[in-house]
Amino acid sequence: MTADRQQLRRLVRPNIRNLEPYSCARETVQKGILLDANESPYPLRRHGTLVNRYPDPYQRELRGALAENLGVDPGNVLAGSGSDETLDWIFKVFCDSRKDSVAVAHPTYGMYQVMARIFDVPVFEFELNQDFEFESDRFLRVVPDNVNVLFLCSPNNPTGNLLNRDEIRNVLSNWDRIVIVDEAYLEFSGGESMLHELNEFPNLIVMRTFSKAFGRAGLRLGYVIADPVFIDYFVRVKAPYNLNTMTQLEGVEALSSPEQGGRIEQILNERERVMKGLKSIPGVSAVFPSDANFLLFRTSGTEAVCGKLLSEGIVVRNRSSLPGLKGCIRVTIGTAEENSLFLERLRHHLEAQNDG
Ligand SMILES: Cc1ncc(COP(=O)(O)O)c(C=O)c1O
Repeated sequence: MTADRQQLRRLVRPNIRNLEPYSCARETVQKGILLDANESPYPLRRHGTLVNRYPDPYQRELRGALAENLGVDPGNVLAGSGSDETLDWIFKVFCDSRKDSVAVAHPTYGMYQVMARIFDVPVFEFELNQDFEFESDRFLRVVPDNVNVLFLCSPNNPTGNLLNRDEIRNVLSNWDRIVIVDEAYLEFSGGESMLHELNEFPNLIVMRTFSKAFGRAGLRLGYVIADPVFIDYFVRVKAPYNLNTMTQLEGVEALSSPEQGGRIEQILNERERVMKGLKSIPGVSAVFPSDANFLLFRTSGTEAVCGKLLSEGIVVRNRSSLPGLKGCIRVTIGTAEENSLFLERLRHHLEAQNDG
């Protein structure tokens, strides 16, 4: 039962389907005697880029570069101020708080739930199994009929594992609603993106970001890859000039540089070393396999341990309160020096805890 486009269109809120979008000045004409947008006519440059003019609302150059890089059409991609902005579009397009709800596969990235609260959309909480795997058949048996969108994160934050591709394919082919696959950490996994399944499954929307492997979290640049039908609706609901001119150019540049910026290999080597280091510390009862740039491990007295590390300037994330993650801490892979210090201080605090 692969979802067809006509059917999927019906998932779009009627007011968005019928929306006449705001028509902005830089849509078609970007050069000439520009007296149409109440901008300043006087050239002002920042880092070599003209900023007195509004940016391209359609992000033509950036979307062209992304499309080439990903092997899709420019009509399949749209960029936002971080992938967090793209979540905003997803809720605006698909979720009517009076009748729809979304499904979130827990434990996972907290923003899906926060966005649902902002939009007042109920959340169907579906738990990953004890290996943090998504069980599609179980999901298909229990998912309520008013769920329009399922959020999956692969590799998953904070558990670190890449979700099984066949499970994602199964839900895509047997559920005629939208499946979001957030691939923020994909580049650290060595796995293949789900975006290659887009032709087969128009109900798939993939989220990616420049914040992790591209090392550019401060730029705020993320994007979605989806069927052009949905990209068209996202264009309608986004702010016309959502990405500034410099960020658009930085994105193009990042894609053309052979070193992505995030030093993936270095991080993967360090991940291996931190993994070994954690396993050798008495008091660390589990270190979970990771396909991302962080590790999740289990210990006791997490609050006290995190507090002591924090007092020494080492900031990690206590994930103990999430379902299935009692006693779990998430640590991002830092530089070699940072990782060594973290391991040394953690060992110290856990030994003191065991002695005491
Ligand atoms: C799974 C996941 N998706 C998205 C984001 C946010 O990405 P961006 O910086 O592009 O908004 C994060 C940030 O930590 C994340 O963990």
